[in-house]
Amino acid sequence: MLTIALSKGRILKETLPLLAHAGISLKDDPESSRKLIFDTTRDDVKVVIIRAADVPAYVNHGAADIGVAGKDVLMESDVSGLYEPLDLRIACCKLMVAGPVDGIRANGRLRIATKYITSARRYFAAKGEQVDIIKLYGSMELAPLVNLADCIVDLVDTGNTLKANGLMAYEHMADISSRLVVNKASMKMKHDVVKPFIELVSEAVKQRGHAS
Ligand code: ATP
Ligand code: PRP
Repeated sequence: MLTIALSKGRILKETLPLLAHAGISLKDDPESSRKLIFDTTRDDVKVVIIRAADVPAYVNHGAADIGVAGKDVLMESDVSGLYEPLDLRIACCKLMVAGPVDGIRANGRLRIATKYITSARRYFAAKGEQVDIIKLYGSMELAPLVNLADCIVDLVDTGNTLKANGLMAYEHMADISSRLVVNKASMKMKHDVVKPFIELVSEAVKQRGHAS
């Protein structure tokens, strides 16, 4: 049996067509069902639906053999038990430092609000800048508006959220897309199922690239 971990939201929507190319479709609609484990059109494959940030833990510990997670989530997670063999080129965006359009008036250490504390810490340390990091779980764009922080580290796609809140991007930290991750032991023990699966999904990614 092969277990694949996916998360609801934008990643799921974009992953399902890639799975379909590998002959895998869910038997129930994950957007409307309250189920957490889904049977699929392949008897040897089931799908678990979890929070995006939990995918690395499930795959790292082998509760799922395979998962799909954003690079942002992978950079935050402290796991060593998984491989990242494929860039799915979906849910593409950028991790950026952003702040008020009229600039920052910080005296002393810069205060940075983010849910990406590991990436933020690493980025500013590499620049030799000492900063105070404030951990948030969402709506980071609010923090500079209410003087909780001077700037934010967050994902930017269209830039609409920044613009709507009087903010702008200052610095580009990383390009983000979703990756296929595979448990290291599963890669070895279930190689005869995992390898063809990766190849089929890889083919689907390429076809999608050619079509767009
Ligand atoms: P949860 O809903 O569990 O709190 P989440 O809000 O991070 O998690 P999503 O918004 O579905 O979940 O985002 C999942 C992934 O999609 C992110 O980890 C990131 O890789 C990517 N992503 C997030 N925001 C955007 C965006 N605006 N444009 C493109 N990709 C994005
Ligand atoms: C993400 C991210 C930004 C927004 C950027 O939030 O945290 O707020 O998308 O996208 P844009 O540049 O196209 O506006 P999301 O929509 O996932 O909402 P969330 O705060 O619930 O995570």
